[in-house]
Amino acid sequence: MKIIIYPGSFDPVTNGHIDIIIRAARLCDKLIVAVANNESKKAVFSLEERVELLKRSLAGMENVEVTSFTGLLSEFVKKNKASAIIKGLRTVSDYEYELQMALINKSLSPEVETLFLVADIKYSFLSSSIVRELAKLGGNIEGLVPDCIKETVIKKLGNN
Ligand code: COA
Repeated sequence: MKIIIYPGSFDPVTNGHIDIIIRAARLCDKLIVAVANNESKKAVFSLEERVELLKRSLAGMENVEVTSFTGLLSEFVKKNKASAIIKGLRTVSDYEYELQMALINKSLSPEVETLFLVADIKYSFLSSSIVRELAKLGGNIEGLVPDCIKETVIKKLGNN
């Protein structure tokens, strides 16, 4: 069984992430969307909330599983017997950072590959912080996050 891991903070999940998830799920038997419990990146949504928002957004996708992890990604990949990590690339600056991460992970676990999918151009400007900022300032997040989580995001971040 070919297992691929899609890691991230997902604070919160955006339609850019969903695009990568849908396309990545076609390339494997099981895609594990892994939410990082990253102490150094202070999240606005709790770990449980980020997992729940993803689960709600991905309901019905049979070969996609959502979970969280703590510690090194390379260890999580090995523990789950996955063959690869998949990431989306939006810009050249993403590539520089992702190359560094891929090389670190490769040096920690030589058997684990990192695959890149080029993000859809319509999401190339999108990030979780853009969504947080827009929701906080009362901007329209329609089309930027899955419809089923839109109200929850606005409720959490909006200043009404
Ligand atoms: N569409 C929309 N947004 C996207 C995107 C896409 N396709 N791909 C990435 N992004 C956004 C994310 O939302 C995030 O936005 P934000 O900074 O506004 O929150 C930003 O781009 C960075 O995303 P990503 O590269 O996925 O980083 P991350 O912080 O979400 O997750 C981990 C990084 C969790 C993969 C990484 O820190 C990790 O592996 N941690 C575990 C510890 C470890 O093993 N470290 C390596 C050895 S030191």
